[in-house]
Amino acid sequence: MKQVTYNGLTFVPYIEKEKIAERISEIASEIKKDTPEGAIPLFVCVLNGAFPFASDLFRAVDTDAEITFIRLKSYEGMGTTGVVKEVMGLSENIEGRRIIIIEDIIDTGNTIKRLVDDLEKMNPADIKIATLLFKPDSVQCEVKPDYVGFPIPSKFIIGYGLDLDGMARNLPDIYVLKEQ
Ligand code: IMP
Ligand code: MG
Repeated sequence: MKQVTYNGLTFVPYIEKEKIAERISEIASEIKKDTPEGAIPLFVCVLNGAFPFASDLFRAVDTDAEITFIRLKSYEGMGTTGVVKEVMGLSENIEGRRIIIIEDIIDTGNTIKRLVDDLEKMNPADIKIATLLFKPDSVQCEVKPDYVGFPIPSKFIIGYGLDLDGMARNLPDIYVLKEQ
């Protein structure tokens, strides 16, 4: 694995795909353990960034489960705009359902907080949060993810779904912005 460049910025390898896969199977086991017998959880994948993680995690949880998608947007370039826009909403009735939100990364926490608040109004039985990456030093609101792939420092990350202005989502590994 070598460094990559987008928009004139250099990124270096950070988490290899093998390590991601290993961690995902551990999280899938935890989810299976936490899901009551007979329950059919509904995974809610937050587009766009979480789609590779959701795809791998959903297939690793090999019990009955459903998946749906919601699209939120808050980031421009390398910073949050502070405003969370819902670009595509949920169409299903989630009343009484066990929800597992799948996110790529929790940074300020604004996106996930807004989503949890919105979903709670629809009276689900339970909401759990699975995030591949978590920046605990950046969080500005009260959010506690139930499943965390990797806690990371507050650095800008790309790859495996994470983008820089739409690019780099198709990198199989995760990269971090190189220190100048
Ligand atoms: P939050 O609302 O600040 O927690 O930001 C969450 C969203 O911002 C994530 O779903 C990502 O789409 C994006 N984001 C946060 N940090 C990064 C990063 O390091 N690289 C790429 N996207 C990021
Ligand atoms: Mg995202």
